[in-house]
Amino acid sequence: MERKAEKERVCVTGAGGYIASWVVKFLLSKGYIVHGTVRDPSDEKNSHLKKLEKALENLQLFKTDLLDYEGLCAAFAGCSGVLHVASPVPIGPISNPENFTQEELIEPAVVGTRNVLSACEKAKVKKVVVVSSAGAVAVTPNRPKDRPMDEECWSDLEYCKATQNYYCLAKTIAESEALEHTKKSELNIVTVCPSFVFGPMLQSTMNGSCLLLLSFMKDGGESVKNIVYPVVDVRDVAESILLAYENPDAVGRYICSAHSIQAQALAEKLKSMYPNYNYPKSYIEDEKDVELSSEKLQSLGWKYRPLEETLVDAVRNYEENGFLVEH
Ligand SMILES: NC(=O)c1ccc[n+]([C@@H]2O[C@H](COP(=O)([O-])OP(=O)(O)OC[C@H]3O[C@@H](n4cnc5c(N)ncnc54)[C@H](OP(=O)(O)O)[C@@H]3O)[C@@H](O)[C@H]2O)c1
Repeated sequence: MERKAEKERVCVTGAGGYIASWVVKFLLSKGYIVHGTVRDPSDEKNSHLKKLEKALENLQLFKTDLLDYEGLCAAFAGCSGVLHVASPVPIGPISNPENFTQEELIEPAVVGTRNVLSACEKAKVKKVVVVSSAGAVAVTPNRPKDRPMDEECWSDLEYCKATQNYYCLAKTIAESEALEHTKKSELNIVTVCPSFVFGPMLQSTMNGSCLLLLSFMKDGGESVKNIVYPVVDVRDVAESILLAYENPDAVGRYICSAHSIQAQALAEKLKSMYPNYNYPKSYIEDEKDVELSSEKLQSLGWKYRPLEETLVDAVRNYEENGFLVEH
């Protein structure tokens, strides 16, 4: 990435989260002045942010919730760009998550994104990148059979409701409203839709998608559904968010997914590198799942690393942080 000559001010929402922490790190390394919103600046789970290179001089944290419009306005003041990453991400089964109710998933994602966009307008922000999800693309019974899913594809709201997939319902509503907003606003809004995000963490607490990868090596379930996981490295997602922000040609939505791998192949790959963990014992065949195309993002200049690198760096990181202990 090229270094920025002048010091431009950009705000990242939910700065202490898994993806956002990498976004903050890359922005600081490129010379940006970074505003980061967090719900509790004194919480130990955000302490890694102040240890990032150049954070002491160029990172300022603002205490706000996505439902606090005035707090967002204060955080965005003086910024030319906002990278809206914050949103509740469930841990555990998507239809019955362990850490959020239906309301707690939908309200911050949908009303929170509306608040972010209004606060951007008030602060005269020029460009916003909204982090959506492949969950806003692929959750539909009507997937194309003969080609990978692209940016024309949207998750089906009624299907999300019927399957109680409130996370994907919330992400789909929030993203479609954000893109709709461009029609009635001066604000330049681009969305990025990552698939399952794996790779090393900068923060000290586990997030939903890292826990999923960890579950393959730790839980050793009797049988696991052999579904296809579209995956992407967290550092490549952070790069894609910066690319969408910095590239003036970026327009509309971008799927951000690098590899598609079935559960069994993923576990076998991990087992071949790290045999001393507790892997699933058998697999239940499942309907072949989603294939996503990131051609549009690639044509903007996005590149991704090999899956092996993601897995090796993730496992090393989990071992160093005590989340994985060999037996
Ligand atoms: N990880 C994935 O596989 C994946 C895949 C596709 C899309 N995404 C999207 O990427 C974004 C970041 O996900 P992540 O994996 O980095 O998750 P994460 O580590 O759980 O981070 C989520 C962030 O959102 C913040 N947040 C949640 N509710 C909030 C609220 N009401 N007000 C203010 N902040 C709030 C959290 O703040 P606290 O720390 O205060 O809770 C946290 O900083 C989300 O938009 C997610 O939908 C993630």
